[in-house]
Amino acid sequence: MILFKKAADINNWLLKSKAAGKKIGFIPTMGALHRGHTSLIDASKHAGSISVCSIFVNPAQFNDAKDFDNYPTTIEKDIDALEKAGCDVLFLPSVSEIYPAGTGNAKTYDLGYLETVLEGKYRPGHFQGVCLVVHRLLTIVPADDLYLGQKDYQQCMVIKKLVELEKLITTIHICPTLRETSGLAMSSRNMRLTAEAREQALKIFESLSYLKNNIKPGDLTGLKQTAVNLLTNAGFKVDYVEIATAGDLDIINHWDGNRKLLAVAAAFLGDVRLIDNMLL
Ligand code: PAJ
Repeated sequence: MILFKKAADINNWLLKSKAAGKKIGFIPTMGALHRGHTSLIDASKHAGSISVCSIFVNPAQFNDAKDFDNYPTTIEKDIDALEKAGCDVLFLPSVSEIYPAGTGNAKTYDLGYLETVLEGKYRPGHFQGVCLVVHRLLTIVPADDLYLGQKDYQQCMVIKKLVELEKLITTIHICPTLRETSGLAMSSRNMRLTAEAREQALKIFESLSYLKNNIKPGDLTGLKQTAVNLLTNAGFKVDYVEIATAGDLDIINHWDGNRKLLAVAAAFLGDVRLIDNMLL
């Protein structure tokens, strides 16, 4: 694996590879890698591309300073995991390499409705920060294919919108959420949970599964409330448990029995915020 720290260096190298007819698959991450991340590298390798992973804990997307300060970093282990996964190139930039002019006068992206619901509502500014970094990364890494995880369903929709707004030529591939055998969605933030909290964290999967197993056409408010109670009773501080349309994330309280739906949840265990989702 080749490691680049400078934007200009990786950009030159990748442009040469492209000129030689190679396709580039890109997997942006914030590190503290787990099998969910490496499954995205597997998908890129499967397509026969040069697989480029970036590790950059993006300050612009943290609406909570403590969450940023506590974000796990395990760079030595990450490099090892990437080598094992057969990743070709790692981009490990500094903040000044990504934001040479700072973020004070950063561009804003018209994300419309997407920014007003769920993660957009509970994490103000978060998706602007995600767009800012992904847009910048895509100017450095000329990716043919971008691999994202369904774990961050709304983020996938936001990045699709970014690609549309900025007329980028990257094709987005959304890969399934990898889970522990218990059902817990793999997440870098799980590293901050004690063994006991990991057991509790399972309740998120259980509450989404409860929605999936019990949904019927008609009023959904009682069902949602039961799912919220399941988390509250397990000691979570719940931001939301919602049912939305899978296509455009319209929050619904009544189901016609036809529209394709997604259950989504976000909740705190202590100061660790966990999210998950499930297609119903
Ligand atoms: P991060 O949380 O590190 O996630 C990097 C990529 O891994 C994202 O596309 C995410 O959806 C995917 N991922 C995380 N957990 C997963 C799981 N259990 N199964 C499958 N895929 C999973 O998401 C970000 O970083 C950042 O917001 C980023 C896009 C890099 C911009 O800073």
